[in-house]
Amino acid sequence: MFSFFSKKRNLPVTLVTDMHSHLIPGIDDGVKTPQEAFDVIDQLLELGYQKFVTTPHIMTDYFGNTAESVRIAHERFLPLLREKNYTMPFDCAAEYYLDDTVIAAVARKEPLLTFGGKYLLFETNVISEPLQLKEFIFSITLQGYKPVLAHPERYQYMTLEKAEDLRNRGVLLQLNLLSLIGHYGPPIQRLAEKLIAKGWVDLLGTDCHNLDHTRLLRAVTRTSAYRKAMELPLLNNHLLA
Ligand SMILES: [Fe+2]
Repeated sequence: MFSFFSKKRNLPVTLVTDMHSHLIPGIDDGVKTPQEAFDVIDQLLELGYQKFVTTPHIMTDYFGNTAESVRIAHERFLPLLREKNYTMPFDCAAEYYLDDTVIAAVARKEPLLTFGGKYLLFETNVISEPLQLKEFIFSITLQGYKPVLAHPERYQYMTLEKAEDLRNRGVLLQLNLLSLIGHYGPPIQRLAEKLIAKGWVDLLGTDCHNLDHTRLLRAVTRTSAYRKAMELPLLNNHLLA
């Protein structure tokens, strides 16, 4: 019988839950139509995923999303999925861009979209470390959230020292699978591999936006970095259990 655990080493051979994707049609730079969402989901199911937490961008300068509008879009999309006989869990959180809007929402103690009850996925600008980064982490942690930094390997300002400092501040690190095949460039691939070697990866995400991404994801599982990452105590397969 097919098992998600290899007999030899009792390690998961595939990820059950993906917790980073852009699969609600038409609300960010992810899939544009319900049909595109279904096509992408079909591919992800074929890759072995059984549960999804999709994470639309909440980024004030680019998309008009708010926690409420994302929640409504998710509620509208779910019946379309069920009509097509998709039965897998399909939850929704968000990928918060660290900007003044989210900082103000935190200051007002507005409830933010999370997965697993408390994990808050956020990203920053790719070039320089935001001045408010540490304060933001402190504030959300104080409110009971567990910060998850999306794709740390993609930030030009990121170093192993900074990654270690973030972990010491309670930040979980979520690596993008496509970084492992050099999709975002060689320096990003190298940092991703170093983070895996250090064991500083808590979650793996597809960050899937479209069918190009699902095609590329097929190559990831053949990399040695992926195999090494799968030996880490990843949270993926404990989410939405
Ligand atoms: Fe993303």
